[in-house]
Amino acid sequence: MTTDRAASILARCDDLAAFTEEPGRITRPYGTASLLAARDAIAEWMRAAGMCTRIDAIGTLRGRYEGETANAPALLIGSHIDSVRDAGRYDGPLGVLLGIAAVERLAAAGRRLPFPVEIVAFPDEEGLRFQTTYLGSCALAGTFEPALLDYVDADGVTLREAIAACGGHLEALAAAALHPGEAFGYVEAHIEQGPHLEAVDLPVGVVTAISGQTRILASFTGEAGHAGTVAMHLRRDPMPAAAELILAAEALARETPGLLATAGKIEADPGASNVIPGRVDLALDVRHPEDPARQRVVAALEERAREIAARRSLDAHWRIMRDHSAVPCDATLADRLAEAVAATGTRLERLPSGAGHDAVVMATCLPIAMLFVRCAKGISHNPAEAVAAADVAVAVEVFDRLLDGLAADRA
Ligand code: GLV
Ligand code: MN
Ligand code: MN
Repeated sequence: MTTDRAASILARCDDLAAFTEEPGRITRPYGTASLLAARDAIAEWMRAAGMCTRIDAIGTLRGRYEGETANAPALLIGSHIDSVRDAGRYDGPLGVLLGIAAVERLAAAGRRLPFPVEIVAFPDEEGLRFQTTYLGSCALAGTFEPALLDYVDADGVTLREAIAACGGHLEALAAAALHPGEAFGYVEAHIEQGPHLEAVDLPVGVVTAISGQTRILASFTGEAGHAGTVAMHLRRDPMPAAAELILAAEALARETPGLLATAGKIEADPGASNVIPGRVDLALDVRHPEDPARQRVVAALEERAREIAARRSLDAHWRIMRDHSAVPCDATLADRLAEAVAATGTRLERLPSGAGHDAVVMATCLPIAMLFVRCAKGISHNPAEAVAAADVAVAVEVFDRLLDGLAADRA
């Protein structure tokens, strides 16, 4: 039975993989036609499972399965449905579909719990389009910062315009926030995106805490020029400066235990092989389980960027795009999840998350817990991302047991 349900979840992950902005690979950023189409498909599945669906002001899909009594605080289960560029098919959708599968079991039995269950499908966890991260969960948690509305995508479209263009409602963003007492917890399932569960040979694990992360846009500006005529000693070339900064980030990360630094995107302007760039924009991502270590490295990198720019007669611009502190999971809710894992006969493993999740933001307003599902070789943000049906079946059972346990608690 859980085997069939796991197979159905995986088939739906395959279905969603077809919704993409780039044929041949999964690329589904915020506010795009492919994201809206994926959301429609998920809403259909929710309604078929007896849920009422609605879309909030920023585009989060919420499917609600009513409880026995009106107005009891709900349990939220969710994850995201946007993707990185050339993504795998499980990062995000797996958590949403596991939640729907949990509701399907209740609906098939005609069963109501003492509380409503809401499945939430967030539209922007990855921040691919605007470098924003967690747009949907910020709106739901009531922490959306209006300054984000001025962020622009690669085509110069502002987030403000993108929200309106995809059917959102700018004037209702504040009203998208959960009301006090509307929910009592948020649970998210996600592929691990790391190799730990595979190393300990376990299908699932309970997350202890989520690392903090800082996303930075570092820009160096010099002077564009002719690649064949400007002598090397006369150049004000920002590209070698960016290279120096990337190497500095790598070196700092290697010498700081637990620190991860990534230069995932670089853009030269105007961007031609025979033109010395006038400007280079570099996206840096810095993470650590402990905030002071991350903050120290971010400060050191900014200082380094300014020193490199001064030495090379360039201008440096340093912009923190997003900054999220490390977040512990709620001990009580995580213990309930751990009991559900143990009840399936699976040895309990607790592990931290290096990746970011919407749970980070939901933790600002609700107790959160997360279940990780083993992923093959720990590969993620890569089309080779894979999960085993047998592991998903265990996760399905964990969610069933979690709901049963919470129902008993709250009866
Ligand atoms: C999301 O996948 C992140 O951790 O950046
Ligand atoms: Mn991701
Ligand atoms: Mn994710």
